[in-house]
Amino acid sequence: LRILFFGDIVGRPGRRGISAILPNWAAQYRPDVVIANGENAAGGIGISPAVAEELLDLGIDLLTLGNHAWQKRDVYGFLDANTKIIRPLNMPPGVPGRGYAILDVGGQPLAVVNLCGRIFLGEYDDPFRAIDGLLAEIDSPNVLVDFHAETSSEKQAFGWFVDGRVSAVIGTHTHVQTADDRILPGGTAYITDVGMCGPQDSVIGMDRDIILHRFLTQLPTRFEVAKGDPLVCAAVVEISEEDGKATRFGRLQWRKIDEGGPILESTWEE
Ligand SMILES: [Fe+2]
Repeated sequence: LRILFFGDIVGRPGRRGISAILPNWAAQYRPDVVIANGENAAGGIGISPAVAEELLDLGIDLLTLGNHAWQKRDVYGFLDANTKIIRPLNMPPGVPGRGYAILDVGGQPLAVVNLCGRIFLGEYDDPFRAIDGLLAEIDSPNVLVDFHAETSSEKQAFGWFVDGRVSAVIGTHTHVQTADDRILPGGTAYITDVGMCGPQDSVIGMDRDIILHRFLTQLPTRFEVAKGDPLVCAAVVEISEEDGKATRFGRLQWRKIDEGGPILESTWEE
């Protein structure tokens, strides 16, 4: 069972990057399922129904979210109605949508769980207890977690906490791909952050002049998504159909260098 996971899609450049690369990567890596974090897909913050539909139409099977899940009010009903989008699980009871999905992949279940970390991010329920509760409840050997969190320590701790109990932990939210993709001893594929799909010449996707102005003056500023060439970050994970453990894992990063065309940096080995 092979999954292609795209990191946080930031605004139009991120959507453009994915639509350009997805057909090639679908042919090259032959994923059974394509998942993407869409929490920055509409104008850099949140997601709207129209943008979610646009992404699903590209061939993405499931969208995950994060701390900006509630940014666009018109998505609330969409989260209740559409099973191809999930928001973080560790939120208070009664909020719209679902915190996980169980996909049918050629007759095999794949549970996909979205969780938010708590350090420097917001008020959420304990993600560690939340995954314990969910794993006791669901019946699927194949489980992928999108752990949307700010600090590498919380993400690493979470990876060790679930090692051997889930197939993969893909970190999202910090938008910069980390070089620590590996399969932990228990069989869980782990990366601290898969990186973003968004404008390359930016500050984590945002217009760099605006961000610099904010840092230099500390004045309140309205952020805007940067323009320009996209960077596309993703990961590929292969899961054994026997026991749900990861058997192969690698990250992908497609970006422009200098004046040349895009290059692909990858740790995936065919
Ligand atoms: Fe986020």
